[in-house]
Amino acid sequence: MLATQQVLPPSASVTADGNLSIGGCDLVALAEEFGTPLVIYDEHHLRATARAYVAAYSELGIDADVIYASKAYFGLGVLRILREEGLSIDVASGGELHAALTAGFAPEQIYLHGNNKSPHEILEAIQAGVGVIVVDGFDEISTIARAAAAHDRIQKVLIRVTPGVDPATHAAIATGQVDSKFGFSLAGDAQRGVAAIRDSAHLSLIGIHAHLGSQLFDLSIFGPTAEVLADFAREVGADDIDVVDLGGGLGVAYTRDHAPPTIEEFAQAQADALRSAFASRGLTVPRLLCEPGRSMVGRAGVTIYRVGGIKRIPGVRTYLSVDGGMSDLLRPMLYGAVYEPIVANRANDAASQTYRVVGKHCESGDILVAEAQLPEVQIGDVLCLPATGAYGVSMASNYNGQPRPAVVCVADGRARLITRRETYDDILGRDLV
Ligand code: LLP
Repeated sequence: MLATQQVLPPSASVTADGNLSIGGCDLVALAEEFGTPLVIYDEHHLRATARAYVAAYSELGIDADVIYASKAYFGLGVLRILREEGLSIDVASGGELHAALTAGFAPEQIYLHGNNKSPHEILEAIQAGVGVIVVDGFDEISTIARAAAAHDRIQKVLIRVTPGVDPATHAAIATGQVDSKFGFSLAGDAQRGVAAIRDSAHLSLIGIHAHLGSQLFDLSIFGPTAEVLADFAREVGADDIDVVDLGGGLGVAYTRDHAPPTIEEFAQAQADALRSAFASRGLTVPRLLCEPGRSMVGRAGVTIYRVGGIKRIPGVRTYLSVDGGMSDLLRPMLYGAVYEPIVANRANDAASQTYRVVGKHCESGDILVAEAQLPEVQIGDVLCLPATGAYGVSMASNYNGQPRPAVVCVADGRARLITRRETYDDILGRDLV
């Protein structure tokens, strides 16, 4: 059992050579075969997580649908696995919509989000026949209605509201508060939004949506949120409020000190909150939708890098430079996110030194781990960053002309390349000279 087992996929173990292995694949061998930086997803853990989500709601006896928030990672190899597990999918752009359709999701299983969907994206969604569009503001109501009319459809929609609950997370990923670019405020706008939707012959309101924030550890926020939503449903007349989408947000462990709630606890908190808020007002308990992203794919993914430089500054610190950085993992720079690396080729060795793990980009802020406790590291070592499956590659860039990493999926000792490494020509391929 590794000290950091809880931030790695459960299949993680150490080989007789002392190498970290995931899904029965030696990470040092994967680094040799596929190069670095390399993102590795554990297929069984992805499937187990999807099943755990579905089972958690069904065991609570609540009518629910699990919708994967594809922004966390929308590579086709992973989308296909989650589709096979029967999940629906949340897309927040035309690009994610295209990925969902290409991965084979039935259009009715697709929920389109976004606070500024372009008329073209709305048209693409309606043409594709997406199940639900989540209305985020007044400006898009007539655009959606017109596109639906042009295709002779009645488009199902949810209205997204800001319940005004503070989710106690990083400000950049809190969304449910009143001062937000997302959704309708409940102080009048949401009521007018509902009226405008109901006025359109080509829109069919089916319920309410509220996403509070991401990397949440405190589940008590669902209680007050459901209360606010039930009050709103009663106020606007609950006849067409058949579903309530409480969003995603369940946190994951990035280090051994993090203890996020379990999927079962998350489902229970959402289900209890919804039941009690609606039933206590004499309203029918609506169907519950949840939209997990991070907690669906975060722990299933790790990234491996090769150490290429070690710089010791006596009395100051020691820098370890790896062959990726802010281009494949922006979260430390953007949110001060913390990670706990492991030397994959000496996974059993005890930590003896403190290093600052930095990327290869031309910025001093390109820091992956500010203070990493590791055994003595050498050039050529393979460094593994656990829990990078969510919002890693999906937020990757080509800064400094860096090709985005390859992605493999591992299971039962076999590794399948699911996204090839970007080439220099891929990077320049759109430039017209
Ligand atoms: N539903 C909606 C409407 C959302 O906006 C989000 C995330 C989710 C569901 C999924 O939330 P999750 O279960 O992943 O917490 N880039 C940031 C996270 C941004 C989350 C944006 N919205 C990060 O790396 O922490």
